[in-house]
Amino acid sequence: MKNFTYYVPTKIHFGENQVQHLPEEVASVGKRVLLVYGGGSIKKLGLYDKVYNLLADCTIVECNGIEPNPRIASVRKGVELCKTHNIDVVLAVGGGSVLDASKAIAAGACSDEDAWELILDAKKIKAALPIISVLTLSATGSEMDQTAVITNPETKSKKGFANDLLFPKVSICDPTYTYTVNAFQSASGVADIMSHIMETFFHHEAGCDISDQVAIDLLKTCVKYGPVLLDEPNHYEARANIMWASTWAINGFLVSGPGKNWSCHAMQHILSAYYDVTHGATLALLEPAWLSYILNDTNKDRIARFAREVFNVEEENTYKCAQKGIQKLYEFFTVTMKLPKNFAELGIPNDANFKELAEECVKSRPGGKIGGYETLEANDVFEI
Ligand code: NZQ
Ligand code: ZN
Repeated sequence: MKNFTYYVPTKIHFGENQVQHLPEEVASVGKRVLLVYGGGSIKKLGLYDKVYNLLADCTIVECNGIEPNPRIASVRKGVELCKTHNIDVVLAVGGGSVLDASKAIAAGACSDEDAWELILDAKKIKAALPIISVLTLSATGSEMDQTAVITNPETKSKKGFANDLLFPKVSICDPTYTYTVNAFQSASGVADIMSHIMETFFHHEAGCDISDQVAIDLLKTCVKYGPVLLDEPNHYEARANIMWASTWAINGFLVSGPGKNWSCHAMQHILSAYYDVTHGATLALLEPAWLSYILNDTNKDRIARFAREVFNVEEENTYKCAQKGIQKLYEFFTVTMKLPKNFAELGIPNDANFKELAEECVKSRPGGKIGGYETLEANDVFEI
């Protein structure tokens, strides 16, 4: 087990109607609020009106229209609003895209640098406005991490960045707000959560029993409740367990011990930057393809353990067991969760320049490689 420092300063209010805590939480940091939200789902949900009622004694300035795969232009707009209106607190109400944009806005508001410069070098972030989030989609874990991902269409890049100042101060996680998330976004969310767990579970570090065992249990929770989201969108236990799994998949707990060895997210980000594809749905294709490609004598035991414990594969031959588990994973995403079966269905054309994409993917990485569970060079990324 590697040494680690575990630091998560986010307070979580979890459960139905926990938004009642919003007034006291906002009051603890100020009265001038930037309300950040997306394309309008929070209005259909009744959450927009609820926020205005709860914060009746605050001044609310709106920054709306945050896109899925949020763009730097939206961040710049939010930064401008914060500076013009002397904002005290950024209130993010939405999914991961809204939360991520809010983090970038909170940092940009406290800096003279352009927000994209802070994203390219997050060490430049020396202060940030407090962030409070009300989560409406279970997927990214942005509600309890210090990371955000922003797209710059001009440079065709989608960039993740992290700084401890960007942890939300408070996140309100009410599973009933996710009842209205459609089947595709719900399934993509489950795939994203499972990908965050798998990116950590596949590691070479010995003796990480706590992380490994929790990872397996979180994955089993996703396999159990994921399909329920499609059949019964208003199933409270299913929405609640998936929401809490999304938080724990990526709040720093699982990587404490194994360390961070992520591979598939690097490939997802380049595909998103070029084709604006949905994050989780892309990962649902990348994870099984990546596992198939890296399966070898060294890592077959761990992949077979995943097959046996997550998908109950019964097969004595370790290599075959691993292969069957990978097939089960692909079927879970594409058949059970009804996600796209290939890149064309996802929206990436068959004649895309995959060689160029693979090279772009590894270009900005140390040594021009993805140094994850198995080191990947451009040619490996192309093959996957
Ligand atoms: O824009 P609105 O109208 O709100 O609609 C959204 C959007 O169209 C809709 N939605 C959200 N809550 C809803 C709802 N529709 C109905 N009812 C609700 N309650 O869902 C659509 C997708 O929303 P989005 O926020 O884009 O989805 P998600 O939460 O999956 O976020 C994806 C973004 O997060 C990044 C991804 O790369 C992507 O840009 N990630 C962030 C991470 C982090 N901060 O740590 C890690 C992840 O690996 C990921 O990279
Ligand atoms: Zn992700």
